[in-house]
Amino acid sequence: MKIYDQIDSLQLALSSYRKQKKIGFVPTMGALHMGHLSLVRRALKENSCVVVSIFVNPTQFDNKTDLEKYPRTLAQDVSLLRTLKGTILIFSPEVSQLYPNKITSTQYHFGSIASQMEGKYRKGHFNGVGTIVRLLLKAVQPHTAYFGEKDFQQLQIIKKLVALEKLPVKISGCAIVREKSGLALSSRNSRLSQKQREEATLIFHTLTEVRKKFKTHSIAQLNQLVAERFLNSSLKLEYFEIANEITLRTAERKRKNNKYRAFIAAFAGSVRLIDNMPLN
Ligand code: PAF
Repeated sequence: MKIYDQIDSLQLALSSYRKQKKIGFVPTMGALHMGHLSLVRRALKENSCVVVSIFVNPTQFDNKTDLEKYPRTLAQDVSLLRTLKGTILIFSPEVSQLYPNKITSTQYHFGSIASQMEGKYRKGHFNGVGTIVRLLLKAVQPHTAYFGEKDFQQLQIIKKLVALEKLPVKISGCAIVREKSGLALSSRNSRLSQKQREEATLIFHTLTEVRKKFKTHSIAQLNQLVAERFLNSSLKLEYFEIANEITLRTAERKRKNNKYRAFIAAFAGSVRLIDNMPLN
């Protein structure tokens, strides 16, 4: 398994595959876990060669401390990837490879899908994500790129980015991978104490309760219920939203034939966690 830190050498290595074979791509910020590995496994199944990028992208962090504290575990990530069978190329560039001039984001107009939730609470986040994903897709030029549904809003943003920029790539969303406890796998979980890890399962349990009660309760009642669950816990709720799955607009009441999804962002201490679940 080779690690590339230059776009040129990665592209040279990929040129031999590109002609006859399919290239899959899994962009990550490292600190890999079983959720990432499930993306890589799916990519390996559907392609003959898979590029995994490991790059902590500075432009998508609105908080300097969060960027500094983001776990960086390259050696461990490589060992995990080595446990998989198949052709994997790791792309782990320095910041200057992807941002040679200025570390700055392109300003995108993603519309309503970017205005709520992560777009509202993390200023500039989706411009940063759009910027880096575009740069990575241009560097790798894969047939298909794979993203987890834990970042459901990000997945919709990336689909929109690809449409806006007319990029020749298929975007595949992959189901959330959870611990036995229900906690969604995330690189940030490594910063949780054992106690916080247990407490953080409230996120999954609340989403599950909302899903069960979705048919019989109004959205206002569900909003109230979630606020109460978090009020009585050690987690700090940043937002709970029931949103239309397509537009990602906050839903105030249910409409026939619409699909809804519930979204939560909450802090366990200083660790920010997000999760979501389809409701109907
Ligand atoms: O989901 C992530 O890990 C990141 O947002 C991504 C897509 C790799 C871009 O930096």
